[in-house]
Amino acid sequence: MIYHDVVVVGAGLAGLRAAIAVNQKNVNVAVLTKVHPVRSHSGAAQGGINAAMGNNPRGGFDSVEKHAFDTIKGADYLADQPAALKFTTAAPGVILELEHWGCPFSRMGDGRVAQRPFGGAGFPRTCYAADKTGHVILHTLYEQAVRYEHASERDNFKIYDEWMVTRLVIEEGKCRGVIAYHLATGKVEAIMAEAVIFATGGAGRVYLPTTNAVISTGLGLAIPYWAGVPMKDMEFVQFHPTTLFPTGILMTEGCRGEGGFLTNKDGERFLKNYSDSAKAMETAPRDIVARNMQREINEGRGVNGNFINLDIRHLGAEKIMERLPGIRDIAMNFVGVDPITTPIPVRPGQHYTMGGIDTDENGATCVEGFYAAGECACVSVHGANRLGGNSLLETLVFGKFAGEAAADYVLSKSALKKGDGALKQGLDEELAKFKRLTESKGTEKAGTIRDELGRLMAEKVGIFRKEEELKDAFKEVKNLQKRFENVSVSYSGMKFNQALVMALEVEGNLAMAEAIVYGAAVRKESRGSHFRTDFPKRDDENFLRHTVVTWDIAEKKMKPSWKPVILGLFEPKERKY
Ligand code: FUM
Repeated sequence: MIYHDVVVVGAGLAGLRAAIAVNQKNVNVAVLTKVHPVRSHSGAAQGGINAAMGNNPRGGFDSVEKHAFDTIKGADYLADQPAALKFTTAAPGVILELEHWGCPFSRMGDGRVAQRPFGGAGFPRTCYAADKTGHVILHTLYEQAVRYEHASERDNFKIYDEWMVTRLVIEEGKCRGVIAYHLATGKVEAIMAEAVIFATGGAGRVYLPTTNAVISTGLGLAIPYWAGVPMKDMEFVQFHPTTLFPTGILMTEGCRGEGGFLTNKDGERFLKNYSDSAKAMETAPRDIVARNMQREINEGRGVNGNFINLDIRHLGAEKIMERLPGIRDIAMNFVGVDPITTPIPVRPGQHYTMGGIDTDENGATCVEGFYAAGECACVSVHGANRLGGNSLLETLVFGKFAGEAAADYVLSKSALKKGDGALKQGLDEELAKFKRLTESKGTEKAGTIRDELGRLMAEKVGIFRKEEELKDAFKEVKNLQKRFENVSVSYSGMKFNQALVMALEVEGNLAMAEAIVYGAAVRKESRGSHFRTDFPKRDDENFLRHTVVTWDIAEKKMKPSWKPVILGLFEPKERKY
């Protein structure tokens, strides 16, 4: 049986940063990833990473406390406040570390890292590399990972590419390891570990359309959920205001940060007509901008009835090509629009999973030896609405903290791993499940269920939600789960069986959809990204608390509970921008 002290699942930014942190403590670590690390979805992040560096001369004085305040207000006060301050306090160090590792940030004339304005931020504190920030940070981190893998004097650091984890093994409340499917050979293996860190990204593909890559499915969250690890605040799903119409590709908030306008069919900058965005306009937080855009479309003021124009023409060709070259390429290649001369058609679309695996601020969960970091985790620092630029930051801050905590846990143990019985049982059960799927004669196709679910979630559990539609959605998700029992996989070989991969991921999407709909139904208020047309006000008295859902393994059903929000720094107030 393969053994590593720590196994990290996922090789995006959170996973790589976690693995580096583990190995920096001279602890043996392996990273399992279903795609090559530089294909991770972190590479799709465009606009930037927040840190109170105070580099931009237009900003005046910035501080980690101001960054924390913006984060907490942006979160509609559902963030745990000490965790948010710890998060923003770590941010400037993250940027300096990346600089020292050679990250090619965009620069100001004096050589310091450039910072642009982003939504909901009182200061221009978003560091960037044109509009390819995630891409350059991912490559910077991967270089470091390769350095550790090949030239480290420390204990082993190993990356397993194209190994897809499908099960988490927990025994008597302690994490024992994972079961993983090696796509290239078709082998399924049990991997024993003292500690496991999940860094599997968000569950964007529960929705259609989404800005998320096809790899960002609900399975990364569903695996620990099915093993009994609680999920927190799943109803909070972020809809990014500007996704390319009709493809759903991200058009970075950097377009608005650099001064771009959003206009309706009459060419009007309509955000001035809404009290929550009248002052900040295009740089109000995402939940507010997305909602007001959708209102324009729903009330017949969309362009051609179904989109809004993102107009950056006035920035001029030089600035567009220097700061937003990727946006221009995408708009030209996918919809034949050159933003230098023509506005970009956009509409809100699913972008980010605020909820996730319930962790503390060091990535620890209620299961000994099991940690999570990045988008799959819910600390919570984003609360009900994440600010743009805080996601890349989260991966690096909490990736590091989780890695350090897991390494300390391993180092604190006097005797390492004992019996492997639970892993053997997990492996047998997983092999039996794969056999069932590949030998099934069922008439349902996973792809059909995936698409029906994605459309259902966008339609009934989208930007605007209400009781009857949520009830319908719950029934329909249950019905899709039933239909999933009749799914067959068209190919029975095990090497690169993408049909099997998709079936496993769709099952994960269904589980997370159920958790999202459930949270949306019980939260009878409007807060951040969760807007109930039947309960349009925020209700701190009853709902300033986290929703938690736990899978009851014995009873095979979801068990709900609540958890208090940790306040202490800023009193919840009405949000206006
Ligand atoms: O709009 C963007 O560039 C996305 C940034 C983010 O989600 O943090």
